[in-house]
Amino acid sequence: MSLNNGTLNLRVARIEAVTPEIKRFTLVSPDGAHLPAFSGGSHVVVLIPNGQNTLRNPYSLMSSPYDTSAYQIAVRRVEDGRGGSRRLHESVREGDLIDITPPVNLFPLVKQARLHLFIAGGVGITPVISQLEELRLSKVPFELHYAVRGPEHARLGEELQRIYGGQVHLYRKGVDERLDISSVLADRPLGSHVYACGPDSMIDATLDCARALGWTDSHIHFERFLEQSSGGEAFTFTLGRSGAKIEVSPDQSMLEAVEAAGFEMPYLCRGGACGHCETAVLELDGEILHTDDWLSDEDKLANKKIMPCVSRAKCNHLVIDL
Ligand code: FES
Repeated sequence: MSLNNGTLNLRVARIEAVTPEIKRFTLVSPDGAHLPAFSGGSHVVVLIPNGQNTLRNPYSLMSSPYDTSAYQIAVRRVEDGRGGSRRLHESVREGDLIDITPPVNLFPLVKQARLHLFIAGGVGITPVISQLEELRLSKVPFELHYAVRGPEHARLGEELQRIYGGQVHLYRKGVDERLDISSVLADRPLGSHVYACGPDSMIDATLDCARALGWTDSHIHFERFLEQSSGGEAFTFTLGRSGAKIEVSPDQSMLEAVEAAGFEMPYLCRGGACGHCETAVLELDGEILHTDDWLSDEDKLANKKIMPCVSRAKCNHLVIDL
């Protein structure tokens, strides 16, 4: 299995609907070779042709790190997004070839943990599935607390219950009790680590409850949905080092526009979380529309930095340090 321009060209071996909104895609090498190794919590970026542009959407790997004969990702259809997930749902068929980047892990397990607690909601379960697989060969105890919007959204959680039994607690709205994050985190032994992935409200509640109970931040881990910028108005900016003018279309991120123009910019998550694409703003006449989780509130107010993977600008003039 070789890389072509930094991407893996894989065949879509299977597509299954697992909830009304989520499809699971199984990807294999066309020549049957094993795929690059990864660890639980890793994600890949799927390149999705979109007219003359390419959308690049990050998705967590949900298959076993011990089985590199295939990767699996779960794609939630986002109606008001830029169209990448809709294209994957509507246009990609079994047997098609798609390009993805090799796996990167921004949400790894902590090896020295004495207890792993997972709190997940909706499609936020996907990185946790590969993390649980990784823990299968470990003797460290874990619990998963997984909330979904109703029984029809519970299939992935029910699959996990069949594998891991009582270690998996499922909270189906309208069927089960509500997930009480504070109770889940209370009275845990020293050395416990909590991992949260799901809607912002769930992650914020996990952070608030854990801190109120005296957990240290080094033992709290979270991954917000690695969703792309939802698009916006077109604008133009300039690369300070070359003077190149870059036009950003309504359904493109600044990062994608830079790549489409043939320039390179560092990135990992493409979701405003990892900090790799942080770029200095050299000149600005207008406003930066910050939508990342990386910059501090002070940085966002100062408008001296931008995260081009998700943030945009409403401006007459913008020059960045690239
Ligand atoms: S690529 Fe991670 S914050 Fe932009």
